[in-house]
Amino acid sequence: MGKFCSMKKVVKKDGKEVVVCDDIRSYLLEELQEIQEKEGFISDENMQKTADKFKIHPVEVYSVVTFYSFLTIEKKGRNVIRVSSCMPCEMKGSEGIVEVFEKKLGIKCGETTDDGNFTLEKTSCIGMCDKAPAVLVNDELVGPVEIGDVDKILDRLK
Ligand code: FES
Repeated sequence: MGKFCSMKKVVKKDGKEVVVCDDIRSYLLEELQEIQEKEGFISDENMQKTADKFKIHPVEVYSVVTFYSFLTIEKKGRNVIRVSSCMPCEMKGSEGIVEVFEKKLGIKCGETTDDGNFTLEKTSCIGMCDKAPAVLVNDELVGPVEIGDVDKILDRLK
């Protein structure tokens, strides 16, 4: 636990001095990102292990995992395609882009292809509003995306 306690603070509790690590939760996200990268998702077992490691309740770990859309409790495809569904992207036709991805992949948004190669999702703003409709292809920002670009994106990933 030592590496997680770079900002120690001593507080009095029931007349005793107790060392508190102020920044412990800032390392929680980092830890969860590492698990996500390695495993592709964060299992119940890993949430429990993380809670034990940080000496916090597993519900706290669960709440962090489910708050951030880039962390997931379900195994995703090797490639994750996230279409921005915020207002500017919707106004520029993101729904049509989602429909084409769904058709080409044979899945609905939120699903993963049977071969485990693709997961399709909608996401909130990815900071590419000036290039709407925008898509996050794994870690790559792409935009503006036109209907005709969907095949090119998928071909690159196959
Ligand atoms: S609204 Fe789509 S990227 Fe910001």
